[in-house]
Amino acid sequence: MRKLSRRDLVWIVPLSATGGFFAWFGLRAWRIQFGKTEPGEPRWKEGPRVEVARIADLPEVWSFRYFVYPLAVGELKSVLLRVPAPQPGGLGAGDAHFLALSRICTHQGCTVNFVPDPEAGAIAYNYRSDHPFLGCPCHFGAFDPLRAGAAVFGPPRHPLPRIRLALEGDTIYATGHEVPLRPLEGRARARTAGV
Ligand code: FES
Repeated sequence: MRKLSRRDLVWIVPLSATGGFFAWFGLRAWRIQFGKTEPGEPRWKEGPRVEVARIADLPEVWSFRYFVYPLAVGELKSVLLRVPAPQPGGLGAGDAHFLALSRICTHQGCTVNFVPDPEAGAIAYNYRSDHPFLGCPCHFGAFDPLRAGAAVFGPPRHPLPRIRLALEGDTIYATGHEVPLRPLEGRARARTAGV
């Protein structure tokens, strides 16, 4: 077998680098497309009991309210949504259904926003949905409140962690959060809780 010469390296090195890049890129694309995890029944961590809203504050389906949930260190930006159907980890109050989610994107920790108008969302996030969703402005990830906060588009793979809710009279309280609290308790690249 012929020994490699220096001249051979001129094409072998760039070819290997290019092949490696495409392999990495393909794996990454595959994981984004097919590696998303579905939220099941949540595992809760007990936390402070915090008043979030009264039922009358969210009078119709897709009403929402942003709030912050206190953590041992910092605060967790969160959103309470009135949704049209019961969700695992959500709260039922008669005919009304509620779901509370962290607003910290599970990709790289940017703050996600509730997108009430799916048509405007399709333009802003390049994600088409027939109902409101949560969008991340950093890399245009999208999360579906009708799948308990599942990541449905873009680079995020994990769902938004849920906030545990309790009802007392007509007042909705937050009483804990789902674990792991991604990305804060996920891999170490998480930013601080108030991002
Ligand atoms: S940080 Fe949200 S999509 Fe990247």
